[in-house]
Amino acid sequence: MTQNSKWRTWWTSRLPIIIIWQNYASQYLVPKNLNLYYCFGVLALVVLGNQLVSGLWLSFFYTPTIQAAFQSIETLMRDVEYGWLLRYMHSTGASTFFLIIYFHIFRGLLYGSYQKPRELVWILGMLLFVILFMEGFCGYLLPWGQLSYWGAQVITSLFGVIPYIGDQLVTVIRGDYMVGQATLQRFYALHIIAMPALLVLFSFLHIVALHHVGSSNPDGIDIQTPADKIPFYPYFVIKDILAILIFLLIFFTIVFFFPDMGGYFLEPANAEPADPLVTPLHITPLWYMAPFYCILRAIPNKNLGIIFMFLAIIILFFLPWLDRSPVRSMRYKGVLSRIGLVGMVGSFISLGYLGMQDVSPLKQGLAQVATFVYFAYFLLMPIYTKFEICLPLPKRITR
Ligand code: HEM
Repeated sequence: MTQNSKWRTWWTSRLPIIIIWQNYASQYLVPKNLNLYYCFGVLALVVLGNQLVSGLWLSFFYTPTIQAAFQSIETLMRDVEYGWLLRYMHSTGASTFFLIIYFHIFRGLLYGSYQKPRELVWILGMLLFVILFMEGFCGYLLPWGQLSYWGAQVITSLFGVIPYIGDQLVTVIRGDYMVGQATLQRFYALHIIAMPALLVLFSFLHIVALHHVGSSNPDGIDIQTPADKIPFYPYFVIKDILAILIFLLIFFTIVFFFPDMGGYFLEPANAEPADPLVTPLHITPLWYMAPFYCILRAIPNKNLGIIFMFLAIIILFFLPWLDRSPVRSMRYKGVLSRIGLVGMVGSFISLGYLGMQDVSPLKQGLAQVATFVYFAYFLLMPIYTKFEICLPLPKRITR
């Protein structure tokens, strides 16, 4: 036995790193036709890593008190060496995280990745989406700017409509009757400890579940022929590395040259310190929350609006059971599914745009139409996927 293999045996019998590497990379087989849409999961992991590292560094300089929070960020930006870089990496990371996740979810809709046997991969992904939302919401309060304060005031008050326990729940979330020191402190704890821990844990479970059932592919057919599969490492890793490099190029172009992205990634109104006595004229949500906020605003009855806003997310959990199509991928689904997906994506983008605008009767009407189209896509899915005519599936994956 050589020195090298002795060391290997010693190590593997105590900590099976090499076996994990084999199971998850070098001997893990993936369909050979995976396209660039299948790189968004890895990109999400890269951004998660960026958020954890830049966030840790930010926490060295941030002070979680209502007197000092705003100032501590100003000091970080102006006086701490490379403090601006850390902050922009974190704020750009937050927006790109959502962008990547929206593409990742879109891939799922396009190729039916949620269908049997990947229902749990999908549900764990949706849980990650909800946790990511909460992480973003808690983080947005921390700079203690005008929008941080008033945004938190509006969103926390929504829980007040829950019958019987609503008022107490709002007080528990805020830690006080008003958004204040107690709120900032608990949102800080949630943002830097609880939510990141949950994101890491659920990402781990998401990937374990995926590797147990295997990746789907753009054709959405089960692969029978071994020749149609390739080892994840090195063949797909090369593709992932290319996607990561392109992503980093775009990411750092934004960080260095357009960190606020015209007010979408960092809003100018939040550069003013929070003032509980002055309500800003326009309280606009961040772009990634805007579609859901727009659904809330589109419905005239406040309580119904809140219910529909939450339903817009909850309905996605049920997708594996709403889709009755015999095929997975949009390549072979019928015309109704295709029109439906285009309509739903269009309505979601419109809701995002309208959610960041001031209200007017015309925009209100458009938001109502978009809300209707969004829900119709999901609620009518069991009917049109069951009866539409699909294209014949190929025997083997095509390209
Ligand atoms: C922190 C957030 C997330 C991370 C880090 C993550 C990571 C990953 C990774 C690394 C993969 C394998 C590569 C790929 O297929 O792209 C994957 C696959 C998958 N993810 Fe996610 N994901 C996240 C959120 C989500 C969300 C929100 C959903 C949607 C509900 C989702 C649904 C799926 C599905 C269905 C697959 C399997 C795709 C297939 O084989 O067709 N993920 N994810």
